[in-house]
Amino acid sequence: MVHILGISGSLRAQSFNTALLHAAQAVAGADVQIDAATLHGIPLYDGDLEARDGTPQAVRELKQRILGSDGLLLVTPEYNNGVPGVFKNAVDWLSRNTPGLPPVFADRPVALIGASPGGFGTIMSQNHWLPVLRTLGARLWSGGRLMVSRAGSVFGPDGALQDEAIRKQLGEFVHGYAQFVAHTRREAAA
Ligand code: FNR
Repeated sequence: MVHILGISGSLRAQSFNTALLHAAQAVAGADVQIDAATLHGIPLYDGDLEARDGTPQAVRELKQRILGSDGLLLVTPEYNNGVPGVFKNAVDWLSRNTPGLPPVFADRPVALIGASPGGFGTIMSQNHWLPVLRTLGARLWSGGRLMVSRAGSVFGPDGALQDEAIRKQLGEFVHGYAQFVAHTRREAAA
């Protein structure tokens, strides 16, 4: 069984990106489990707060969930042709040292997907994540790409995926990424 943690980069209850993460959970094969995390409760990064109190509880919990999984799927919105501040803020917290915990990104198999109501489906935001992930030493899976555009018609009012072409693409993406995660896990165990 391959365990993947997916993080939605949107706090919105009606988020297309959270809906996309739920759709990824639904299309995953029997040997792949995707758990869903959100960024609720993560404070703004503040070096004074960190020096005084250490890693906030919400960040510590998310780190532990990442460390307990084999791979990390980032489901990113796009804001102003870049990464949303809320998501970058969380990744900045996650990149900080927590005594007693190993780094969460180094050598971790990571993949990116995203959804937008516009025509380009988060292509700019996904590209903006690349230097961040490289800096963190993550192993980006680049064997597939998924940019969900026109999200307003891809998902129904209840957030259910209603586009069969996207379902197929998402299934292929999850399958390819899960194989990469399994391969990386075998390599680490050897
Ligand atoms: C956006 N949106 C947006 N969409 C896009 O495709 N390219 C962009 O550059 C932007 N810029 C942007 C800036 C800001 C500040 C907001 C709030 C929104 C629209 C965005 O894709 C849309 O709100 C999505 O619904 C956000 O994702 P969730 O919350 O549905 O997951």
